[in-house]
Amino acid sequence: MNRAGNEAVADLSGKTIVLGVTGGIAAYKAISLVSLLAKSGADVHVALTKSAGQFVTPLPFVSLSKNEVITDLFDEPNPREIAHIALADRADLVVIAPTTANFLAKAATGLADDFLSTMLLATHAPVLVAPAMNVNMWNHPTVRSNVARLQQFGYHVMTPAAGNLACGWVGEGRLPEPDEIHAQIVKLLYPVRQDLNGQRIVVTAGATREHLDPVRVLTNPSSGRMGYALAQAAAARGAEVTLITGPTQLQLPSSCRIIRVTSAAQMEQAVLQELPNLQILLMAAAVSDFRPANYIPNKVKKTEGPLQIEFVRNPDILLSVAEQRKAQQFIVGFAAETEHVEEYAKGKLVGKKLDLIVANDVSQVGAGFESDTNQVLLISPNEQVQQLPMLSKMDTANAILDKVHQLFSERTVNE
Ligand code: PMT
Repeated sequence: MNRAGNEAVADLSGKTIVLGVTGGIAAYKAISLVSLLAKSGADVHVALTKSAGQFVTPLPFVSLSKNEVITDLFDEPNPREIAHIALADRADLVVIAPTTANFLAKAATGLADDFLSTMLLATHAPVLVAPAMNVNMWNHPTVRSNVARLQQFGYHVMTPAAGNLACGWVGEGRLPEPDEIHAQIVKLLYPVRQDLNGQRIVVTAGATREHLDPVRVLTNPSSGRMGYALAQAAAARGAEVTLITGPTQLQLPSSCRIIRVTSAAQMEQAVLQELPNLQILLMAAAVSDFRPANYIPNKVKKTEGPLQIEFVRNPDILLSVAEQRKAQQFIVGFAAETEHVEEYAKGKLVGKKLDLIVANDVSQVGAGFESDTNQVLLISPNEQVQQLPMLSKMDTANAILDKVHQLFSERTVNE
């Protein structure tokens, strides 16, 4: 777990971030920041000022971001566009970390004498500034007034951390840790609505595994990303979230209570145990419909001929939920389909007595299993089918939660 909570695994795919690095000793920390951003799926473009080049070289930034690093205003890699304007237009967020006192002054007065300062004037994207400097410089009235001026422009300025400074002084002036800056970036890109405040939500995620013997399993390609995005988004919007997760490679979100399961039977037990206390259930897990009829306690040895395995049906968790749920509980299922998506999903909506079904065509590139994106239909009993565009799983999660919030609030008002 990181100090900033779960944000280091937040999904930033589809987001373009321009990271400006200015010339301070903390410039090396920007390398870890790029690593975190790249792991989150962001498209990161790094611009080093001339002074930053005294502390770090472009190479690690290129390796981690997989993009060219910009060091010169007049370095125009693409003759069909003007680099500082093109990047200013594409940015969803500009981050400057570390920001020196000199660069704060430049930004506050509109000086534009290099790539970063020029791009900054041209962008409409939100700007996050993370200053780092000697404590006395930080406390100087000029620096303070520059910070205040930037805040008036709407820039977001992080307060430097206190501690031992490279110059030997102790006090405020350290660059916040990369995970804290990353958490701030996530907050700015996904402004937190507290519209699910206090709601008790259970999310299931990932695949189940049905063991044939100690080394062989029946499972499916679910990575858990869709469910984890839902759990993280719901927690960020104020919900008390329990995440029931099958085995995944993902970092467990620290903002959620976690229940780990392996098989469909264990997932059913966990869901039914949580059912009396939850208000909203989101079943994003890909649950195996079958399991081997008999578990073989020792590894099955290779035989010459084919191996016959008998499978039996697993419990349908949502059907069990339908039998035991209270009327006011809001139950959301997913439908993973490869054809007749809307028709089959509507069948599951009715058959499993759901309040909403989220249907994805898992044969489509960029949708369903394992991808960072998804494209879904939202189908509820009394509403028109809503088609969402291809979005990152985090954006899809928030759109699903918007619909859940709308329908759940309408139900509460009508009661
Ligand atoms: O994890 P990712 O890689 O991000 O992929 C996301 C996803 C494709 C897994 C997700 O978007 C998704 O579609 N989840 C549901 C997968 C699934 O099991 O679909 P289904 O159509 O087979 O089942 C319909 C619903 O019944 C689902 O809500 C499922 O959780 C539930 N179910 C299924 C079987 C079973 N025995 N019990 C159930 O409750």
